[in-house]
Amino acid sequence: MVRFQFINYFYKVKTGIVSLFSDKTNKVRSNLNKRLLNKEQGAKLVLGARREDKLKAIADNIKTKGGEAVYRVTDVVKPEDNIALVELAKSTFGKVDAIFLNAGLMPNSPLSALETDNWNAMVDVNIKGVLNGIVAVLPTFEAQKSGHIISTSSVAGLKVYPGCAVYCGTKWAVKAIMEALRMESAQAGTNIRTATIYPAAVQSELVASITDEATSTAYRQLYDAYEIPAERVANVVAFALAQPDDTNVSEFTLGPTTQPW
Ligand SMILES: NC(=O)c1ccc[n+]([C@@H]2O[C@H](COP(=O)([O-])OP(=O)(O)OC[C@H]3O[C@@H](n4cnc5c(N)ncnc54)[C@H](OP(=O)(O)O)[C@@H]3O)[C@@H](O)[C@H]2O)c1
Repeated sequence: MVRFQFINYFYKVKTGIVSLFSDKTNKVRSNLNKRLLNKEQGAKLVLGARREDKLKAIADNIKTKGGEAVYRVTDVVKPEDNIALVELAKSTFGKVDAIFLNAGLMPNSPLSALETDNWNAMVDVNIKGVLNGIVAVLPTFEAQKSGHIISTSSVAGLKVYPGCAVYCGTKWAVKAIMEALRMESAQAGTNIRTATIYPAAVQSELVASITDEATSTAYRQLYDAYEIPAERVANVVAFALAQPDDTNVSEFTLGPTTQPW
């Protein structure tokens, strides 16, 4: 069965449909790409992020491999952008089956650094971005009595680390929002599935958003020591999507076998 998938897809992230993209070594291909492109699980993708050149390159790459993808420049902080992305999915493919809320920032620093602009940016993207994605798709999923909402929290949404106060807070918020969404959907009988992913160190551009010098150096060392390719997260997304419609696997924690925290 070919399912339409609406993926709020953020190319760098590699979390998710890292798709047809490679990671920063340009060698790793996501298994998910293959799974989404095969006849049984072929997906039609709608991609959203802020950088149009990246979106276009990704969509072109998907198409050259036989997949279908459209994109729209999207700022998840703007509710209207999220709604427009869902509308684009409907007008292009006729249906929306899943949304992957993956955008996130991690400009960490100690609270004493008073990086209030970064605190606000994390709250806006990591929390409000997820809420904006949910509100954009929930009425559709409720009406059709099906749908899959997947989001990316973090191991920082399960534990707290010094120097990570606001990021941890945003990722704990994602955990809470997603669990309430799962419970409310079950109570209401809407058959909406949810999945929250809690990755540890995964290759991406995330560390580049850290402006505090000491924090940046420490994270770079940590990621250089431990990070695993983003396809590992993509595999989890593929697993969640592949479950039978009556089965919800709601939480996934993953990370390098070598990373102790
Ligand atoms: N990498 C890790 O070790 C790790 C661990 C735990 C959790 N995570 C989480 O995984 C998710 C993906 O991050 P990543 O590690 O892949 O980092 P990344 O390479 O920096 O990717 C972040 C993505 O989010 C998009 N984005 C940022 N702000 C946005 C906005 N306002 N509107 C739309 N898109 C926006 C970016 O695209 P544009 O800049 O073009 O908009 C980019 O594609 C995040 O939620 C992050 O917190 C990552």
